[in-house]
Amino acid sequence: MPENKKKHSEEKSILHPRSKHRNRYDFKELIKSSPTLKPFVSMNTYNEYSVDFFNPNAVKALNKALLIYFYKLTNWRIPKGFLCSPIPGRVDYIHYVADILAEDNAGKIPRGENIRCLDIGVGANCVYPIVGHQEYGWSFVGADIEPVSIASAEQIIKMNPILQGPIELRLQANPKDTFRGMIQENEVFDVTICNPPFHNSAAAAASATKRKLKNLKSKGAENLNFGGQHNELWCEGGEELFVKNMIRQSKHHANSSTWFTSLISKKENVRPLKVLLKKLEATAIKVIPMGQGTKTSRILAWSFQNKTV
Ligand SMILES: C[S@@+](CC[C@H](N)C(=O)[O-])C[C@H]1O[C@@H](n2cnc3c(N)ncnc32)[C@H](O)[C@@H]1O
Repeated sequence: MPENKKKHSEEKSILHPRSKHRNRYDFKELIKSSPTLKPFVSMNTYNEYSVDFFNPNAVKALNKALLIYFYKLTNWRIPKGFLCSPIPGRVDYIHYVADILAEDNAGKIPRGENIRCLDIGVGANCVYPIVGHQEYGWSFVGADIEPVSIASAEQIIKMNPILQGPIELRLQANPKDTFRGMIQENEVFDVTICNPPFHNSAAAAASATKRKLKNLKSKGAENLNFGGQHNELWCEGGEELFVKNMIRQSKHHANSSTWFTSLISKKENVRPLKVLLKKLEATAIKVIPMGQGTKTSRILAWSFQNKTV
């Protein structure tokens, strides 16, 4: 390699220790698993194989290859314009949730289909159920308000016999509801997860995407173009109100899940959410930091069951 070429570090130590994404991707192996990735792979300025992260088709092809290679899917696709999640960050959430469950299980991660997880906002990509089932064998209920997303997730399950049975999908009819209508009478989960809509309007979602792309382009960094219909990325009141509503509804379903969790992208949302949880007498509250490249995020976890705050 020429000396003036920039060099990336080999390991992404910000990712969870059990993440399969800590090392740089072996594009030859990825292409072997998913040949449709090949036309999108070229040498970048680091003299390494990569894809053009500005090209949504390239990002989709990479995600498909990652899901086939690391999570043993046979096929994966999502409709045009829907959120094509950066897989490593999503995987980290699942591993940290596994750590929370392990703490209640003498340090051992509970595995198998008896462990039930409810994913609020499963999305067209169905990423959390895929990773959670393939890493730990958990079963999932995936809920969403978007019929196209539910249909897409159903299609993914249909294409992958390995996902049939342990993953069930439910359409939420009321966008103001999260747990109501999704948790059935006497139904019990070990944990609920959620990557909530972040912005408070379609315009805010659109301008944030524009800003992000412009910023990354000017840095010449490995850029992100993960798509996302605007209604996947925004809701009235944004992340704070969405999670507040979820917390209030979780109180009504206090015995339906051992743990409730949500990703929180905005650091300043943590405080008001903790205040609400204390007011509602949550018995345990955890904030778990997660590093994802230039972006840090965190998981807020709470319980109303017999625990110490
Ligand atoms: C940021 S996306 C997350 C998608 C996927 N889980 C991921 O991480 O890539 C948020 C998702 O929540 C869904 N959603 C919005 N309001 C909802 C509600 N009240 N109940 C369930 N899902 C909802 C959206 O349709 C969208 O699919």
